Amino acid sequence: MLTDISAARDAALEQIRAAADLDELATLSTSLLGKKGALARLKSSLGGLPTVEEKKAAGQAVNAALGEVSSALEERRVALAADALAARVAAERLDLTEYLGKPTRGHAHLVTQAWQRLEDVFIGLGFQVAEGPEVETEWHNFEALNMGAGHPARGEFDTLFVDHVGAGGSPGSTVLRTHTSPVQIRTMLAQEPPIYIVAPGRVFRRDTPDATHMPVFHQIEGLVVDEHITMADLAGTIEAFTKAFFGEGFTSRLRPSYFPFTEPSAEFDIQRPNGEWIELGGCGMVHPNVLRAGGLDPERWSGFAFGFGIDRMAKERHGVEDMREMYTDDLRFARQF
Ligand code: PHE
Repeated sequence: MLTDISAARDAALEQIRAAADLDELATLSTSLLGKKGALARLKSSLGGLPTVEEKKAAGQAVNAALGEVSSALEERRVALAADALAARVAAERLDLTEYLGKPTRGHAHLVTQAWQRLEDVFIGLGFQVAEGPEVETEWHNFEALNMGAGHPARGEFDTLFVDHVGAGGSPGSTVLRTHTSPVQIRTMLAQEPPIYIVAPGRVFRRDTPDATHMPVFHQIEGLVVDEHITMADLAGTIEAFTKAFFGEGFTSRLRPSYFPFTEPSAEFDIQRPNGEWIELGGCGMVHPNVLRAGGLDPERWSGFAFGFGIDRMAKERHGVEDMREMYTDDLRFARQF
C-alpha cells in the first residue's frame, strides 16, 4: 500500500513538472486532486487494510502525498503565470530603441518659428507686442471695427459663434475671433498714443481644411497710431518689414482694396527675387470710426493697420505644398525643416 502511494505521488509530481501552460495545469489539478484521482482512490480503499496501525500509517501517507501534490501544483501555477506575463510583456513591447539610441534635438513648429521671427523683426522696427483674447465679443470683432450688425463684410468671415445661453449671456454676443483686428480696439482703449504694436495670435473661421485654408490659423496684426501718420509711413513700414523678414532681394507693393476698418485700404504683395508676386495680407489707414471706437479723436490722431497670415508665410518660406501637412504631426514631415 505504501509503495502504491509513493508511486502515485511521484507520477503526479512528474505530470505537474511536465505541464506546459496554465490551462494544462488546471486540468491536471482537477484530475490529481479530484475523487477519481489515483490518490483519492487509494484513500477510499484504506478500509480494506487488515490492522488499525496499517490503516493509520497508510492514511497519513496518502494525506501527506496529497499535500505534496497540491503544493507542487501551486508552485508550478506561480511559475507558469510568471512565464505567461513575461511572454505577454515581450509580445506587447514597443521598440523605442530608435529614440533611446541617439537622442535628437527637435525644433519649434514651423508656424511658431515664423511667429517668433515676425516678433523679432517688428521689435527691431520699434514695435511692441500686444495680445487679445481668442474668444471675443462681437463688438470688438465687428462693431468697433466699423462693421455694424447687417454689414455685408460680416458674412465673409465665416464666424464661429460661442453660445452663452447656459452661462447666462445672450447667444451670439461672443465669437471665436475671426481676425486679430479686435486687438486694435483693445490696445487703443488700454493705452494712449503713440501706439506701435503688433499682435500675433490664433484666429478661427468656419472653413473646410484644404491645401491653403485651415479653420484655425494665425495672423499678425499691426497698429500704429500717432500724430501725422500717413500712407507713406504704412508703405515704408511694409517695405522695411519685407526686406528684414524675407531678405534684401524682396520688395513689396500695395494694391487698392477694401476693408470696413481702413480707409483707404490696400492689399500688400511681396515680390520674390525671381519676379513672382505673392499676396500677403491687408492694410490701410485706420478708419475714423475705428479710432472713435477706440476712444481717440480722429482730428488729432491718425494711424495705419495691417494684418496677414502667419501660416501662409511659414508655408511660403519653406515651400510647403499643403497647409494641412503642417498640422499632421508626422515626424517624416517635421524632420525636413
Ligand atoms: N483683418 C483683416 C483680415 O483678416 C486684415 C486687415 C488687418 C486688413 C488690418 C486691414 C487692416 O482679412
